[in-house]
Amino acid sequence: MSFTVVDPAPIRLCRSQLFVPCVRPALFEKAANGPADVISLDLEDSVAPADKPAARQNVIQGLNDIDFGDKTLSMRINGLDTPWCYRDVIDVVEQGGERLDIIMIPKVGCAADVYAIDMLITQVENAVGRKKPLKLELIIESAAGLENINEIAAASPRLDALHFGAADYAASTGMRTTNIGGPNPDYTILTDADADGARDIHWQDLWHYPMMRMVAAARANGLRPIDGPFGNYADPDGFTSHANRSAILGCEGKWAIHPSQVPLANDVFTPPAEEVKKANRILKEMKKGQSEGFGAVAMDGGLIDAASIRQAEVIVRQMRMIRAAARAQKARTEATPAKKGKSTARKSKK
Ligand code: COA
Ligand code: MG
Repeated sequence: MSFTVVDPAPIRLCRSQLFVPCVRPALFEKAANGPADVISLDLEDSVAPADKPAARQNVIQGLNDIDFGDKTLSMRINGLDTPWCYRDVIDVVEQGGERLDIIMIPKVGCAADVYAIDMLITQVENAVGRKKPLKLELIIESAAGLENINEIAAASPRLDALHFGAADYAASTGMRTTNIGGPNPDYTILTDADADGARDIHWQDLWHYPMMRMVAAARANGLRPIDGPFGNYADPDGFTSHANRSAILGCEGKWAIHPSQVPLANDVFTPPAEEVKKANRILKEMKKGQSEGFGAVAMDGGLIDAASIRQAEVIVRQMRMIRAAARAQKARTEATPAKKGKSTARKSKK
């Protein structure tokens, strides 16, 4: 292990990150009552230019009025090259109270972009006496963003996560894609002919390279890597296939651009039952081994040691959080009809 120790961002659930356009505030409560781990209040691309100020006001009102429970709450601001960016930060941090957890910066191109927003947030937080410092998550979705990713990923102590945004990345690099985050039938390998002269076509993953770089840069800086959108929400199998690849590469979660994608992401990014069982056994065997004076012990014909404990502890803690989130959501769902159709998500007014 390197002498430079990088602490990972504190564990939190982020299997599914549901985007909600802030021009549709009626969706805020629906998202709050649903099973998404993270809600992303979107001021950027799902809001038309003329609606930006109204959308911002909806966020402020939603943050003050709606009980989002234990969910992580993120807000995607407009990019630094737009006229709305500064006011998104200032108005919401000044007037939105303490509930917001994270600000998401889109189209980050260099470390100075992060520095600029960090400075702005810091000034407003200090001015209003905010107690809980906001975190930052960044979308890598341009050629510049990918090329400068190592400096970007180390640009602020507020950083919590990196995301890969397929659509804008494709636009920035001139990739030919047919759907957001999906495959392209022309990105293939033609196998050599077999003895009968037959050749197979294998589809390839055109997102593999930027995803790998994003995952490595995130982890090298203690940040969580998260996969972005899969546009065709009428294709659950396509979503699941893509999410599985992201999970295997190391991502902790994926965006949902429609509520139907949330349970799919939750499923994929929940540790498999076998892994959870094994994690519990590792902790038990290691405890036993350590009480007998061994730092490494054998289990199922393999070696387990201190690194295995760290991995196992993450899985066990994650499962505890997943069960707590499921219980909280069940309680909200059950409480809703008891109030005769009135939402349980509205905060009581003093
Ligand atoms: N959050 C919470 N609830 C949502 C939702 C969202 N993002 N999108 C839809 N719903 C609700 C609908 O209100 C509807 O609820 P109901 O059954 O109580 O009537 C239900 O889920 C089914 O919705 P549906 O009719 O299939 O979708 P729609 O036509 O209302 O909206 C989209 C489809 C894609 C426009 C919408 O899901 C959306 O805006 N998604 C986010 C887009 C976004 O933020 N993009 C930027 C990031 S890439
Ligand atoms: Mg984008």
